[in-house]
Amino acid sequence: MRIAIAKEIEVGERRVALVPDTVSRLVKQGLEVWVETGAGERAYFDDAAYADSGAQIIKSKEQLWGEADIVLKVNPPGLTEEGNSELDLLKSGSVLISFLNPLGKPEIALKLAERGVTGLSMEMIPRITRSQSMDALSSQASIAGYKAVLVAAAMLPKYFPMLTTAAGTVPPAKVLVIGAGVAGLQAIATARRLGAVVEAFDVRPVVKEQVQSLGAKFIDIQIDENTDAGGGYAKQVGETTQETIRQAIAPHVKSADVVITTAQIPGKPAPLMICEQTVMGMKPGAVIVDLAAENGGNCALTEKGRDVVKHGITIIAPTNLPASTPIHASQLYSKNLASLLQLLIKDQQLNLDFGDEIINAICITHAGEIRSDRIRNLLTVKQV
Ligand code: NAI
Repeated sequence: MRIAIAKEIEVGERRVALVPDTVSRLVKQGLEVWVETGAGERAYFDDAAYADSGAQIIKSKEQLWGEADIVLKVNPPGLTEEGNSELDLLKSGSVLISFLNPLGKPEIALKLAERGVTGLSMEMIPRITRSQSMDALSSQASIAGYKAVLVAAAMLPKYFPMLTTAAGTVPPAKVLVIGAGVAGLQAIATARRLGAVVEAFDVRPVVKEQVQSLGAKFIDIQIDENTDAGGGYAKQVGETTQETIRQAIAPHVKSADVVITTAQIPGKPAPLMICEQTVMGMKPGAVIVDLAAENGGNCALTEKGRDVVKHGITIIAPTNLPASTPIHASQLYSKNLASLLQLLIKDQQLNLDFGDEIINAICITHAGEIRSDRIRNLLTVKQV
C-alpha cells in the first residue's frame, strides 16, 4: 500500500499532512510512503528528514498523485500552478484524505465520485470519545484560538495584564470571546494567561461551566429555543433570537478592548453577532479578531482575509491562523491522520468497514457514488 503526502498549493498554507516522525512509524508498519519534494519545507521539515524517516521523495506531482493508493493533504484539492485540477491527477480507485469542505463546496464530492475516488473528509469525523485523537477540526481550531489572542494583543494599543509600576497602575485589558467552542475556549485560556479579564458567551448553555472553569465570566442570555444540535455543535437560531442575542451582547462588546469571535454553525453562514452600530460604540483602538471570516464573519464590517480599521476599531479577519503555527499544526494534524490510518488499514490493506461509525461518517464518496444525503441535497439546491 502506497501512501503519498502531497505538497499544499493554497496561497499562504504552510502546513504539511504528515511529519517525518509519523512517516517513520508508517514505514515500520510495512507501508510505502511517498512525499512530494518540498512538501514539508514551509513547516521546517525538509526532504532529508522525510528521506531519513524512510520515505521516497517524488519530484513529479503527476506521478505522486497518479500512482498513490492513498493521498494525504491538509486543504481540499485545488488548481496547480499550471492550472490543472489536483482532482484530475488522482487514479480511479484511490483514496483522498483531507479537509474536503463537502458542505461548503459539495462539487468536490461530485468530482471525486465521477473519478471513482474514495473521499474521506476530516471535517466529518464524528465527535465521539473513540475519535478524539482523529479530530482535526479541534486540533486546528485550538491553534486558531490561541493565535487569535496573540494577534489581538500585538495589535492592541494597550497592555493585556494589570501592571503596578512606579509610573502608575495599568488596568488589565477586557477581552470578550463570542462562541466558546474549541477555538473560543483556547482563546479564553490564552487571554487569561496573558492577564486579561475575560467574558464569554455561547448560544449553547452547556458551555457555561467550561467558561467559568477557565476563570472567565459567562454572559447569561435568556434564550427560549433549543440551541444544541448535538455532538458539540450549535443549531442555527431564528433571526428574532439572534437579534435578542446581538442586543444583549452589544454592551459587553462596547466595553471590551478585544473581541474574539468564533461563532459558527457547520454548513451554514456564520451568525451575525456584531452590527456596525455596535462597532461604532466601541472604545477607540479596540480590536476585533473574527475567526468566522471564512463563513461570512460574525461582525458586519469583517472583510475576509484582511485587516481593516473602521470607526477607529481594528477588525482582523484571518482565514488560516493554524498555517501561521505550521510546526505544531502539522504535528497535531499528522497525529490525527495517523490515528485514522490505524483504523483504516489492516494487514497493510485498506479496510473500509462502513459498519464503523467513524468510517461511515467521513467517507463522502466511494465506488462512483456520493454517500451522504446532505451533500447530494446541497448539490441539487445548487443546480436549481
Ligand atoms: P464550531 O466551530 O462549530 O462553533 C464554535 C462555537 O460557536 C460553538 O461553541 C457554538 O456553540 C458557537 N455558536 C454557534 N452559533 C452561535 C451563536 N449564534 N451565538 C453564540 N455562539 C454560537 O464548534 P467547535 O468549536 O468545533 O466545537 C464545539 C464543541 O464541540 C466544543 O466546545 C466541545 O464541547 C465539543 N467537542 C466535543 C468533542 C468530543 O466529544 N470528542 C470533540 C471536539 C469538540
